[in-house]
Amino acid sequence: MLAPREHWGSRVGFILAAAGSAVGLGNIWKFPYLAGQHGGAAFLITYLALAFTIGISVMLCEFIIGRAARKDPIGAFAKLKGGLWPIVGFMGIAAAFVILSFYSVVGGWTLAYILKMMTGVLVNGTSQELGKVFSNFIENPVRPIIFHAAFMTLTIAVVIGGIGRGIERWCKILLPALFVIILILLGRSLTLPGAMKGIEYFLQPDFSKMNAAAFNAALSQAFFSLSIGMGAMITYGSYLDRTMNLPTSTIWTTSLDTSIAFLAGLVILPAVFAFGFDPNAGPGLTFITLPAVFANMPGGVVFAPLFFVLLAIAALTSAVSLLEVVVTYLVDEKGVSRRTAAWGSGAVMFLIGIPASLSLGVWKDYTIFGKGIFDFLDYLSSNLLLPLGGIFIALFVGWFFSEKALEEATAGGKHRFPVARIWMFICKFIAPLAIAWILISGL
Ligand code: PHE
Repeated sequence: MLAPREHWGSRVGFILAAAGSAVGLGNIWKFPYLAGQHGGAAFLITYLALAFTIGISVMLCEFIIGRAARKDPIGAFAKLKGGLWPIVGFMGIAAAFVILSFYSVVGGWTLAYILKMMTGVLVNGTSQELGKVFSNFIENPVRPIIFHAAFMTLTIAVVIGGIGRGIERWCKILLPALFVIILILLGRSLTLPGAMKGIEYFLQPDFSKMNAAAFNAALSQAFFSLSIGMGAMITYGSYLDRTMNLPTSTIWTTSLDTSIAFLAGLVILPAVFAFGFDPNAGPGLTFITLPAVFANMPGGVVFAPLFFVLLAIAALTSAVSLLEVVVTYLVDEKGVSRRTAAWGSGAVMFLIGIPASLSLGVWKDYTIFGKGIFDFLDYLSSNLLLPLGGIFIALFVGWFFSEKALEEATAGGKHRFPVARIWMFICKFIAPLAIAWILISGL
């Protein structure tokens, strides 16, 4: 006899786990530098608009698919419809491998930075020095990989703990802590002399900067940040019981996620301007500017390591959801034990992450389609696999599963769902067409 499928312990626990998956490096590390590169406020508005129309709709589709089938993404499509649909789940599993491999490299950076901040790099850290500390570190052929291994091991450890006692328990502690720290940092960043310019940059739209590339980046970011398009939310949904109100859970998750991204932008961009960095700086932005903020604030030696602890945690609760996609698949479909599945797939992802890390230093010159390996993996997953997955997930629910999906969304009429028809319309037409259009114009 198989053991009964695990469940989330409570509604709050589930929402915090889903938000834990959504809130991660995407919000605190990627969002501010993307906004910096693509015109600040114009990017913010586009991102929010996409997240609250297409993003939120696809997330609901995923929760529904997961809960209706109570299976991993491949198994869910096979059970609900069969035919070629399981390929969508397969793409999701592939995306999990691609994303977690480079994600864990950055997760490793956060761990390394906790130590760096504790050992006083900050003390006389000018902007230039902090920039050098960062590039020296990520270009090193060995050290980032050791931290990448450490981060992957932590991820594996949480996943082995299972749904309730691993993932849910940790998210319930870590997410609220993250929120508090972000608010504290916000107070510091907004009162820096010269912060106003950053606030203006972030909140005053310049729509001339919104070209096809910026649209594509905003859409990719919405998918990446909400953890949708690859089955993470299908997987989390598969551990739900029948009574939970899915539409409101979706609103909660999306709101928590976008507000953390918004706050992260408000912490980082004013600091960028206050210290005279270039908002265009790319992936180093958070790792260089925030230490500069801490170096200049009373109590910075305490807050700096704390911030990186929380960044590591945000990364961890997201990484866990990526690994869980693969683990749930191996457990559900292949009958592998949770422990073996977690170690095995985690090891493979670790190996793929090694060239990604090296591509920032000694392997800088190797490129795939003109991009370094790290950037290529990021691009492949966020700009192609996730949006593509989103198209098929929306089409599936809109055209092939609509009646059952409505029934599932309201738990058989138990919950109100006033915007059901708008949601269906988005799934059927808007999401697939808009994503396809943005994808094609971005290529
Ligand atoms: N949403 C996570 C973040 O913003 C990344 C992620 C993507 C997690 C896809 C799971 C699935 O950091």
